[in-house]
Amino acid sequence: MIASVLPTYNRAPLSFVSGEGAWLTEADGSRYLDLGAGIAVNVLGHANPDLVAALTAQAGKLWHVSNLYQIPEQQRLADMLVEATFADTVFFTNSGTEAAELAIKMARKYWYEKGAPNRTEILTFEGSFHGRSTGAIAAAGSEKMVKGFGPLMPGFVHLPWGDIEAVKAAIGPDTAAILIEPVQGEGGIRPMPDADLKALRALCDETGVLLILDEVQCGMGRTGRLFAHEWAGITPDIMMVAKGIGGGFPLGAVLATEDAASGMVAGTHGSTYGGNPLACAVGARVMEIVAEPAFLAEVNRKAALLRQRLEGLVAAHPEVLEGVRGQGLMLGLKCKVAPGELVKAGYAEHLLAVPAADNVVRLLPPLNITDDEIAEAVLRLDRAASRLA
Ligand SMILES: Cc1ncc(COP(=O)(O)O)c(C=O)c1O
Repeated sequence: MIASVLPTYNRAPLSFVSGEGAWLTEADGSRYLDLGAGIAVNVLGHANPDLVAALTAQAGKLWHVSNLYQIPEQQRLADMLVEATFADTVFFTNSGTEAAELAIKMARKYWYEKGAPNRTEILTFEGSFHGRSTGAIAAAGSEKMVKGFGPLMPGFVHLPWGDIEAVKAAIGPDTAAILIEPVQGEGGIRPMPDADLKALRALCDETGVLLILDEVQCGMGRTGRLFAHEWAGITPDIMMVAKGIGGGFPLGAVLATEDAASGMVAGTHGSTYGGNPLACAVGARVMEIVAEPAFLAEVNRKAALLRQRLEGLVAAHPEVLEGVRGQGLMLGLKCKVAPGELVKAGYAEHLLAVPAADNVVRLLPPLNITDDEIAEAVLRLDRAASRLA
């Protein structure tokens, strides 16, 4: 008999009833150190008092109004995002997938309105992940995600990761946009080198092709800058955000320049819940905390500490681990064993990490993890790796 919850997930036999900071607790009181943070979602940890206060204050006033009306919390968060980034305008969604859908629509509508309705093609990269909608799986294109779900939305060209020459060769008269994660998450914590991001920006400037960055996983302070592309000193035309921006409350967004968004006039897109007052009240509080230079400086300091200790761990377990990669607190441990095995061994040590492709275990702790918790995490990872030796 089928499970009452559709069995699309391979769930671990763990069940948490409460959380505090970087810790999750099961009903019997056992505590787990969370280096997954809901897959890069709980940027300020679990049950963060500031976010609880923002949510409960809003919950006592107003939960939901339609986008038929002005929503002051939405306006406030949009203003903050515009102020802090390249963007001139923001559309709020409930998830990263919905942000992907709008980014694709926005790029195509841009060219349609510019009198080039043929420019619909979007260049994407192997190993990428943009969500699970029919559009987002077509965009990423991996066999694992698309098999059995055809016919797929046409108009995506899949290129080898990091191959700038292939991008140059693929840009043609029908190209609308390039869509890329500055740091691939699900693909195994693969950062696109700054020089390559710069080269993509230059190609887009030369050809008019729009640059869409998917910062759903790598954005919101995760790499030590508010958004990962800032390290490369470039800006996109359109950017997808989700996960961390809500700190655990479902929220996503598409940020865009005025020009890139010019086709999206009244009636062209909408969402019942997108930009909901509860989500935006929490999102604004997340922004107030995470966008602070002093907060981001701490992320970078802690990232250096964690990385250094992880390098030591790799040296201590050459039969299990091959290397560390990533940026900020978006780190990957490249494994010589199946990553699922290390994650399972972590469970036995009451440590949560997340497997990814390319034989990598992802470490995506809350951005406010403490130095002591970093030390404790590395101890537990050390014991987990010893279990596999
Ligand atoms: C880079 C990236 N884009 C898009 C998504 C989809 O986001 P969501 O699961 O919120 O729909 C994810 C989720 O893992 C992601 O990592």
